[in-house]
Amino acid sequence: MPTAIITGITGQDGSYLAELLLNKGYRVIGVARRSSTVNYERIEHFVDDITVVQGDLQDQGSLLSLLEEYKPTEVYNLAAQSFVPTSWNQPALTGDVTALGVTRMLEAIRFVNSKIRFYQASSSEMFGKVMEVPQSEDTPFYPRSPYGVAKVYGHWITVNYRESFDMFATSGILFNHESPRRGMEFVTRKISNAVANIKLGKTKELRLGNLEAQRDWGFAGDYVEAMWLMLQQDHPDNYVIGTGETHSVREFCEIAFAHADLDYKEFVVMDEKFYRPAEVDLLISDPSKARMALKWEPAVSFKELVTMMVDSDLARLKR
Ligand code: NAP
Ligand code: GDD
Repeated sequence: MPTAIITGITGQDGSYLAELLLNKGYRVIGVARRSSTVNYERIEHFVDDITVVQGDLQDQGSLLSLLEEYKPTEVYNLAAQSFVPTSWNQPALTGDVTALGVTRMLEAIRFVNSKIRFYQASSSEMFGKVMEVPQSEDTPFYPRSPYGVAKVYGHWITVNYRESFDMFATSGILFNHESPRRGMEFVTRKISNAVANIKLGKTKELRLGNLEAQRDWGFAGDYVEAMWLMLQQDHPDNYVIGTGETHSVREFCEIAFAHADLDYKEFVVMDEKFYRPAEVDLLISDPSKARMALKWEPAVSFKELVTMMVDSDLARLKR
């Protein structure tokens, strides 16, 4: 039975990836950092099928112990300070977790067993002020937030350990992916949750920042399949994962409100508070390498994603 360690098990992607690996017959070890309140909402429906252990990307010793004790064949490093606006408020913490945390895990692998296959959760946020459209594995990076800068470090240290120590260290450059399990502060979930609240008469408005920002949004359940496929290849590499389509925040609002028979123009209020010091205006992927090499295709369309999220929040609030 192969063993996989997933950091960030309590997050959106950690929960979908764990389900996928359980279905494939893996023993799954999920790493959660210690907190005074347990936050297992996303994993509680299968928590008895995995082993949850304490560990923190800020603590080198905890990572070494984990690898020594559980002897994984694969490590998926999904943990990060992942919310872009917070990275301006806590830039040093973001760098410590999201950048240096990658080095700590790579060092742990190098010391314990350099044959362990490693996946790094890199991000389209690294493209930032995009140097070309669409963005592929060869597009130069121009990050626009401390988070993006930290992810560029995480990407290059992964490539460096691959080249320096011949480690199976792969970087997945994933474009935005969403789901009913997305954190409430990210724009897609903020919108779907607001639509449900407005529809049920609990609130009257939704305050948002830049409605013209464009993202290449896919479904998280499809994207974790790509992570797994990357670690099944003969060689480590970098892969861009996205849909190849882009949509604005405004379009997301239009479809989400219309799905509940509402007109977004009556409820959405622009609020400068949600503008960013530097914005990523347009992201759109060129996932042709992943299509060819991994035979990976997203299954859920943009419209299906939006309506799935609204339906899920409506059902949750009605319960
Ligand atoms: P998420 O829901 O925010 O989950 C982040 C996870 O990291 C949580 O489990 C969090 O634990 C954990 N974490 C934070 N700091 C930690 C630390 N110091 N030590 C150990 N764990 C820590 O993020 P996600 O959307 O699932 O994304 C997964 C990864 O992919 C992240 O690295 C993210 O940056 C990257 N990524 C995401 C997207 C996307 O669109 N979702 C796109 C590209 C890349 P708590 O629950 O305790 O906070
Ligand atoms: N969060 C948020 N809240 N974003 C808003 C709002 C708002 O009220 N109004 C407009 N936006 C715009 C932001 O300015 C941004 O351009 C876009 O919506 C998407 O914002 P987020 O959903 O917060 O995601 P992100 O693109 O900044 O970051 C996510 O995707 C990255 C991949 O590109 C995160 O998951 C990152 O961890 C990930 O790496």
